[in-house]
Amino acid sequence: MSSAIYPGSFDPVTKGHLDIIKRAAKMFDALTVSVLNNSEKSPLFSVDERVNMLRKACRDIPNVKIDSFSGLTASYAEKTGTDVIIRGLRAVTDFEYELQMAQTNRKILPTLDTVFLTTSLEYAYLSSSIVREVASFGGDISEFVTEDVAQAVYEKFSGEKQNG
Ligand code: PNS
Repeated sequence: MSSAIYPGSFDPVTKGHLDIIKRAAKMFDALTVSVLNNSEKSPLFSVDERVNMLRKACRDIPNVKIDSFSGLTASYAEKTGTDVIIRGLRAVTDFEYELQMAQTNRKILPTLDTVFLTTSLEYAYLSSSIVREVASFGGDISEFVTEDVAQAVYEKFSGEKQNG
């Protein structure tokens, strides 16, 4: 059975991520989308919130599982017995960092390959940070994320305004 992992921050999951997930799910028997628990970053959403948003967004794709992990992606891949990492490439500006990451991962775990999927043109500009920024100023993010995610993002920012 072929399997792959798609690791990332997904803070929050965007339509660009979902495009990659749907296409990768067609290429592999099983795809695990896994949220990195990175204690050095202060994300908008907790790992549990991000996992739940991904579960909702991917509920109709039967061979996709959502998980989370801490530490090195290569160690997580080894632990889960997966040899393929999926990453999306939006533009040439992504390439240098992604290449470095793929090569580092292969150095750590020589059996590990990274498969790059080029993001569909309609989402080439899109990132989680763009979603957070537009929403933080009250802008419309309905083109960028699912309805559930948009609601959760606006709730975060309205909560922040009330608290701060
Ligand atoms: O969605 P992102 O933030 O672009 O995802 C980046 C991610 C999580 C794939 C990357 O930061 C990662 O793999 N982090 C885990 C630490 C690690 O393995 N680093 C070594 C590769 S350079």
